[in-house]
Amino acid sequence: MATTPSTMALRREARRPARRIPAPDPEPAAEEGATSIGEAREAAKGCHRCPLWRNATQTVFGEGPESADVIFVGEQPGDQEDLAGKPFVGPAGRVFDSILDDAEIDRRKVYVTNAVKHFKFEPRGKRRIHSKPNAGEIQACRWWLDKELDLIKPNLVVALGATAAQSLLGKAVPIIRMRGDVVEREDGLRVFLTIHPSFILRIREPEDKEAERERFLKDMRKVKQLMAA
Ligand code: URA
Repeated sequence: MATTPSTMALRREARRPARRIPAPDPEPAAEEGATSIGEAREAAKGCHRCPLWRNATQTVFGEGPESADVIFVGEQPGDQEDLAGKPFVGPAGRVFDSILDDAEIDRRKVYVTNAVKHFKFEPRGKRRIHSKPNAGEIQACRWWLDKELDLIKPNLVVALGATAAQSLLGKAVPIIRMRGDVVEREDGLRVFLTIHPSFILRIREPEDKEAERERFLKDMRKVKQLMAA
């Protein structure tokens, strides 16, 4: 009988410095030809567009209905997302979910993805510490984000943090100063800029944390209005 690997086993495997079994060779034809999110997700499993696939457990593709009006774009999968193969299911995902709930945005009706689809980390003892993707990795993975945008054709895209904004706008933007702004791209796509939910997680002082949560909730309420417009 087939068994599912336990989280412990996945963690052990994930800590190995390099994959023992290389990912299958990329199939550019499948990548180019994907005509649905399901096909794109399959093709992305073998992605070698940048070296991040070597140490990650798996490609974490976007999730949500192909008919979604809005796409939320994060930075890259974290430790838990890398193991689960799903975006925003770890601590930052829980903050994100609870604020979406408060803003009355149904996560099941939106599409959630990342600018970079493999977890980049530095091993430290038994832990894997998040490491920021560089411009080359963001650029390489932009191919997949463009594919998702092309297939879903959203009404609005929400950039959660600087990496997502850089990928969507093709340049670095001052996210704190521009948060709450809507930037229209040359192709007409509207990009709403805000912070990454992990920013809230990192605030230690309870009052400051609550104030930042409120600011993010206000942003999400604005997103809800823009989604329908
Ligand atoms: N942070 C992200 O940017 N994306 C995830 O999927 C999880 C954490």
